[in-house]
Amino acid sequence: MDIEKVNSMDFGEFVDVFGNVIERCPLIAAAVWSQRLFSDLEDLKKHFFAFIDALPQSGQEGILRCHPDLAGSELRRGTLTAESQREQSGAGLTTLGTDERLRLAELNAQYRARFGFPFVLAARLSDRAAVSRELARRLLCPSAQELRTALGQVKKICSLRLADLLHADPAKL
Ligand code: GUN
Repeated sequence: MDIEKVNSMDFGEFVDVFGNVIERCPLIAAAVWSQRLFSDLEDLKKHFFAFIDALPQSGQEGILRCHPDLAGSELRRGTLTAESQREQSGAGLTTLGTDERLRLAELNAQYRARFGFPFVLAARLSDRAAVSRELARRLLCPSAQELRTALGQVKKICSLRLADLLHADPAKL
């Protein structure tokens, strides 16, 4: 898909295609559509990021809260979005043993209790060992720093999902 195709989309098509580049936040795609025309893919990505950066902290935390836990109950119930399912599966989180799954669930619960939002990590750039390691490490970070880190991960996930949709090299997005 090239940028001319993106620029030609009506509102409904744009939200259908880009509505989950930020997990379960189609409102962001709805807002970004109003800002077309986009000069290129980089420009499109910047509009998504600028929307996130312009939100007050409550809105930024709201974006994080739209993410399911990694290896959590939604994965077991099969209710993840297609994108999240693919990413968690790619990181090996769909084939965890019981002990590993329970350890991650405990760390996820501790993280949520400490920060008030779920642990978000660009799972596609990770694997099961790194997910646990990162969770344990980030659990100890100061809150303000952790919010910045988590939003950085949301942007990485967004870049990778945009790259998928546009068949671009993620390094160039
Ligand atoms: N990393 C990639 N996808 C997801 C997701 O759906 N949830 C969380 N917590 N992290 C992710």
